[in-house]
Amino acid sequence: MNEKTIEIIKATAPIVRDKKDEITNTMYEILFTKYPETKILFKDATEEQPKKLANAIYAYASNIDKLDNLTKGIETMVSAHVKTNIQAKHYPMVKDSLLQAFKEVLGEACTSEVANAWAEAYDFLANVLIQKEKEAYSKVS
Ligand code: HEM
Repeated sequence: MNEKTIEIIKATAPIVRDKKDEITNTMYEILFTKYPETKILFKDATEEQPKKLANAIYAYASNIDKLDNLTKGIETMVSAHVKTNIQAKHYPMVKDSLLQAFKEVLGEACTSEVANAWAEAYDFLANVLIQKEKEAYSKVS
């Protein structure tokens, strides 16, 4: 991730913290409307799930320059994802829905610069998760 991206993510972290529940609720609404095939993946999810995702997004934003702090969180996400059979192909669906939710909830604060920074940051985290999930799937199969 480049310096500029990290700077933008850090600058937007407080806004994301204030609006994180709204962002994730909107994200799920968009995800399940636009990509209904993802609904089944969440069939056993608790009501806490949107909150967990919201907290993960904020934790990520506020630790973007010290990703070592996220190691434990990443392990938890990987095991939740492997349990529910999340695949690499699902990540672009969440990305699209999350970015649209950012635009809807943040409004004018979500400039194209902010949207691009979050797209890049999402890809970075998604690639870490996809890689670790691949390793986990190859161990169990
Ligand atoms: C960078 C992207 C993602 C992040 C940051 C993320 C974050 C999380 C977090 C924090 C949890 C809860 C872990 C726990 O404490 O148990 C979780 C679980 C889960 N995630 Fe993700 N996730 C991402 C991508 C995805 C994608 C692409 C899908 C599929 C469309 C997905 C579906 C799920 C499901 C089904 C669960 C388990 C829910 C349950 O049964 O309780 N996630 N994720």
